[in-house]
Amino acid sequence: MSDGRQSRPVPVGDALIRFGDLAGRGANRLSPTPFFVPGAGGFSYLALATLQAIHRLLVVGGVVLAQILLAPAASASSPVFDPAAVYQVACAPCHGVSGRVPEGDPMLQHFKNVPADFTDPLFNSREPASDWFLVTKHGGPSLALSSQMPSFAEAFSDEEISALVAYVKQFPEDRGYPPGDLNFFLPIRTIKAFPEDEVVLKMRYQDTDGVGSWRNIVELEKRIGRRHQVTLELIHEIEDDDGSLAEMELGWKTALTWSLPRQFILSGGANLAFPFAANSQVEAIPYLALGKGLSDSFTLQASARSHVPTERFEDGDFEASAIIHCLTTVWPRGVFPAFEVTAKAPFDPGDGDAVQVSLTPQLHFGLSRGGHVRLNTGVEIPVSRRDYDFRVHAMLIWDFADGWFWKRW
Ligand code: HEC
Repeated sequence: MSDGRQSRPVPVGDALIRFGDLAGRGANRLSPTPFFVPGAGGFSYLALATLQAIHRLLVVGGVVLAQILLAPAASASSPVFDPAAVYQVACAPCHGVSGRVPEGDPMLQHFKNVPADFTDPLFNSREPASDWFLVTKHGGPSLALSSQMPSFAEAFSDEEISALVAYVKQFPEDRGYPPGDLNFFLPIRTIKAFPEDEVVLKMRYQDTDGVGSWRNIVELEKRIGRRHQVTLELIHEIEDDDGSLAEMELGWKTALTWSLPRQFILSGGANLAFPFAANSQVEAIPYLALGKGLSDSFTLQASARSHVPTERFEDGDFEASAIIHCLTTVWPRGVFPAFEVTAKAPFDPGDGDAVQVSLTPQLHFGLSRGGHVRLNTGVEIPVSRRDYDFRVHAMLIWDFADGWFWKRW
């Protein structure tokens, strides 16, 4: 999904010379203005940072020298780009030698936003490498983060930045968390595989023979542990100008297996639906959900679920859904078209269709620059005979782990 996630060997000497060059040419680029605090504190910090930088250059120089001396003759003239060594010079002054700035470090008072802890496995895993590539290449403001995170576009090539991001990604020892690169867009009908920290407002307008009805849902999703999620949904319905709280759903989801190289994630879960109306029955809704990156431009998601009523079994159904999203840009903010197909088979079709198919073309909008607020809209059209003419869907999605709704626009 990112422009150039592959890393290939690049001469380290080269990169460091370019990096040094950049530091010399535009010191403000690497230590942006807010970083230099006037007054004695600022000055002593700068002196300290300079000393640290000289120390690190010596260390890295030693590493490079050792690489050249110890490497076989053939590669002596082109030592490979060593992200670990470059990190210590280019990133560690602000991000800490070990991926986090230790608590109480005097450096912390110079940051508007303290750099996040790269060693925290939940935080590190949930952020897509493609976003971190953009932040490292274009600087913090490109994704509405602090301008104290500089742009490295002139210091490093895309391959070098990918190698640095890959290095930063391996800081946490705990690898039991699904990677955020497999967090695909939330579809309208298909269930999403990735566990989320999200609030979603869903609105659905349904037209049946010219008569409209509304179904509004507030959904709270919260991650639990490494790979689980709990869900609470409140469902409100308006029919014939009569609105009422119709149902509450409680849910659990677990990411069962995933593979980053194969761009694949499979989850399983179940919801329990408790209706508030007198003659309604409790339903269990078990499901499987799959996400798959097809290429840099397309993702596929598919899910299978069943509504299993606890009293009148014949009221239940089985439903399969799939959606393909087109990734029109590597930036979180953008418009992403998608096409979704849903097939529903009632346990007891009576004299209706055995399988009811609907098509839902939709547009997914990344609204905020950091991508934590999104809107998904679509129209669902039945292609077999169904009990409605069309449905209009709109979903507002707020990923609260990435900041308050009104931040990072
Ligand atoms: C001059 C200080 C400074 C340097 C040098 C620096 N960073 Fe940062 N970086 C920051 C700050 C401050 C933030 C936090 C921005 C925010 O949260 O608003 C940040 C954020 C980031 C993030 C985004 C994390 C998130 O919250 O999603 C990434 C990725 C990152 N830096 C990578 C790097 C890499 C890789 C390097 C070295 C090539 C580097 N940084 C060098 C200051 C720096």
